[in-house]
Amino acid sequence: MNSIKNIAFFGLMGGALAIPKPATSQSHLKINYPADVGCGEVNVFYTGFPAHHQMVIDQGYNVTAVDISLRNEAANLIKAGFNVYVLFQGPDQPVSNIADRMAGTQWGIDAVGWDNLHQYRESAPLTPTVFNWGPDTLSESITRRVPLNEDCTNKPGKLLAYEEICDPTLCEKITVITNGSLEDLLKGPNA
Ligand SMILES: *[C@@H]1O[C@H](CO)[C@@H](O)[C@H](O)[C@H]1NC(C)=O
Ligand SMILES: *[C@@H]1O[C@H](CO)[C@@H](O)[C@H](O)[C@H]1NC(C)=O
Repeated sequence: MNSIKNIAFFGLMGGALAIPKPATSQSHLKINYPADVGCGEVNVFYTGFPAHHQMVIDQGYNVTAVDISLRNEAANLIKAGFNVYVLFQGPDQPVSNIADRMAGTQWGIDAVGWDNLHQYRESAPLTPTVFNWGPDTLSESITRRVPLNEDCTNKPGKLLAYEEICDPTLCEKITVITNGSLEDLLKGPNA
């Protein structure tokens, strides 16, 4: 009856992060947010930097706090009824990882961090794009744009995956959760 709608969200770790903007602008993309959707009917794909990435450390962030925020925000989205796939990686990793994770699914909205934009467009050229400017605003920016049509208090979404890909020389620790456990997600880095 209800088809799953998909949103892809690129997170930029704080507006001040000195990452060059992609030459192309997202502004001409037509944004069609999913409407009239219920609990568990919207998949959110979210990417950005792993909290403990050296580039985030270099920007002076308290990466422990950033990490906690990012994991809490993913959990909040799930509690709000969204299904969430998180893939965090830095520019040291191949952007094709994103395409790999997005393959086979139709994504409804892109949210953009650093210069994944090109890859997102190749993977999902017509999906809307949303910018998110900080680790604390993910769930808010999505729930504001995609209000679900029912109360999901007892009908949370799913953690599709929380995947940080980072070389140990660049990230002291990462979080990888592929079995859907929110409890594990909230425990903190596990690798
Ligand atoms: C960084 O954030 C963590 C978690 O909120 C906190 O416990 C710690 O005191 C903070 N560190 C600094 C240096 O502010
Ligand atoms: C999920 O996997 C982790 C190891 O990756 C394991 O420690 C944990 O018990 C699993 N949780 C569930 C709910 O299966």
